[in-house]
Amino acid sequence: MDGNGRWAKKRVQPRSFGHKAGVRTLMSILEDCFDLGIKYVSVYAFSTENWNRPQVEVDALMDLFRTYFTKQFSKLIEKKIKINVWGDKSKFPDDIKNAIHEIENTAINDPKGVFNIAMGYGGRNEIIKAVNDAIKAGIEVDEKTFASYLYTTGIPDPDLIIRTGGEMRISNFLLYQCAYSELYFTKTLWPDFSKEELIEILENYNIRDRRFGKVK
Ligand code: IPE
Ligand code: MG
Repeated sequence: MDGNGRWAKKRVQPRSFGHKAGVRTLMSILEDCFDLGIKYVSVYAFSTENWNRPQVEVDALMDLFRTYFTKQFSKLIEKKIKINVWGDKSKFPDDIKNAIHEIENTAINDPKGVFNIAMGYGGRNEIIKAVNDAIKAGIEVDEKTFASYLYTTGIPDPDLIIRTGGEMRISNFLLYQCAYSELYFTKTLWPDFSKEELIEILENYNIRDRRFGKVK
């Protein structure tokens, strides 16, 4: 979800204004995804590197997390969506940590979908943590056991990764899991991302030939 800051700048507003618009877009796109029958939806909300943004911006993002974890996300749970949080939670304020803990530990019978939110997440950080955890457990890993040490354990690798905002890079997102993901880059700034564009991208994805290194 990239481009919130530029979206706000175009409107001569502070970056936090763009982040607010961004979460509104997130909530409506999430609903669209689950309505379209997508079972797993994951978003990159806050990276390990985002802690280095100016304190006012970090504070504004924390306020948004606060509101969404306590209010909006419980609406998703009512709709039988299971929520997972991926990342190093240690730096988050205690009240947010507690809200995450509560949300993650809410069991959902027969979930309609799974929403994964990466926050305090970095792909390298995740891989290094997994390596150290495996060493601590005294286990020599293979691809399957290694995956069980990642935040994404139990969740299939992403079929499609969409990045808004025009940059054409991965920026430390799901580095291990994206090995065979289809990538789609759009110049649309995240707050402007729409259901129409999502459908266009899914149609583009549907005609791609995924060979996973094999010959068809
Ligand atoms: C993405 O939008 C949201 C977060 C990383 C939290 P940006 O804040 O990176 O927006 P731009 O790239 O400056 O436009
Ligand atoms: Mg950005």
